Amino acid sequence: MGPGDDAGVYLLNEHLALVETVDIITPLVDDPFLFGAISAANSLSDVYAMGGKPISALAILGYDPCDFDREVIKGILRGCLSKLQEAGVNLVGGHTVEDQEIKFGLSVTGIVEKERILRKDGSQPGDMLCLTKPLGIGIAVTALKAGRLSEAYYQNLLSWMLMLNERARDAALMAKARACTDITGFGLLGHCLNMISERPLDFYLDFKKIPVMPFIMDLVQSGLVPKGAYENLNFFKKSIVTQLDEDSLLILADPQTSGGLLFSVSEEGIPLLDKAGIFFSVIGEVREGSGRIYIV
Ligand code: CO
Ligand code: CO
Repeated sequence: MGPGDDAGVYLLNEHLALVETVDIITPLVDDPFLFGAISAANSLSDVYAMGGKPISALAILGYDPCDFDREVIKGILRGCLSKLQEAGVNLVGGHTVEDQEIKFGLSVTGIVEKERILRKDGSQPGDMLCLTKPLGIGIAVTALKAGRLSEAYYQNLLSWMLMLNERARDAALMAKARACTDITGFGLLGHCLNMISERPLDFYLDFKKIPVMPFIMDLVQSGLVPKGAYENLNFFKKSIVTQLDEDSLLILADPQTSGGLLFSVSEEGIPLLDKAGIFFSVIGEVREGSGRIYIV
């Protein structure tokens, strides 16, 4: 594939290809089982974003044996295995290194039919842009670490981070998505620009239609915003045309862990998505342009 695509692809024969990716994260939650499961869902996502089916995985774990006992490590692996089982993926091995800060993730191998590979940059003018999880994951995790996230909001956050992008991929393929990626570290805005790439397109987004977890704006207004959201916004600002206030823009720039899929489909694809029964929102559209994001 190319720079910015979600995974590497190796053509096995004229019909079938391998999809290969690796992703490692530091803990977002205190519970080892949940951390392992979230990390697995996050690592699998890039294979789904390419239209692929993950088949096997290798675990990569960094930790300091003086700080963490075997129960913690077992918990992480159990959480990872439960998510892999849900996805129908075999854990075939792994590697452990000593590390001051605990880290866990997977190298995932998937397969994809050549004609069904979803790349980041196939959008056409007139396409609709669809997003399959609400934004605000990075902000909510920041609040969680500060002890400022209520139990109900924590459960809401967990349910999104633990959700596989498998059914969203099915829906994207069924609706004949022309381009697809997953929302991760660059936030919605960064991944939109990545999809536009160097092509003569603009993305038009409607802020009211962009799903955001219900409590996120309050958190932003209390200053619970991760550094990465400010960095993203600064970096992408020159390509954005909008009257929106900074708090709203920070939500659109918020780095996501295990975020949803963002894909572009022709208008005829939308009724197929309705039938797929997944969570999704049409957040905007693609027009001819010069590499900008317009947000109303
Ligand atoms: Co990705
Ligand atoms: Co990735």
